[in-house]
Amino acid sequence: MTASKRIVLSSDHAAIDLRQSLAKHIGAMGWEVVDIGPATPESTHYPKHGEAAARHVASGKADLGIILCGTGQGIMMAANKVKGVRCGVCADPFSARMIREHNNANMLSIGARVIGEALALEIVDAFLGAEFEGGRHATRVDMITAIEG
Ligand code: RB5
Repeated sequence: MTASKRIVLSSDHAAIDLRQSLAKHIGAMGWEVVDIGPATPESTHYPKHGEAAARHVASGKADLGIILCGTGQGIMMAANKVKGVRCGVCADPFSARMIREHNNANMLSIGARVIGEALALEIVDAFLGAEFEGGRHATRVDMITAIEG
């Protein structure tokens, strides 16, 4: 497995408990987890947390990233504004596997008000357990990158 790999986690206030639970789970799998918070539950703004995690991934400070907000949608939109980031929201393990295998996603977004902890853990396992398949999918991912300009 990917024992030496680093993953960045971030969320807004809506997902702190779930983020911390995922961090523990992923750390136990052998990943180096960089949890950039926030640590406390005061209301905050998801774009800055999505951007911060995305910059870790885009700069190579982290190999992958997992971000969370209430729906997973807003923080995903912010992360995808950072060049080089491909982030999908997933509420099922199949999609989480496919965004790695076909879309070479380097970030996963989860909605803490949409799914429960057990399903979130399954989604994370599917995401981290999958690899990009390349081939025809690489052509398509290159086309996504080309849109960034
Ligand atoms: C915060 O109330 C909520 O808007 C946020 O967590 C997220 O769901 C946005 O997409």
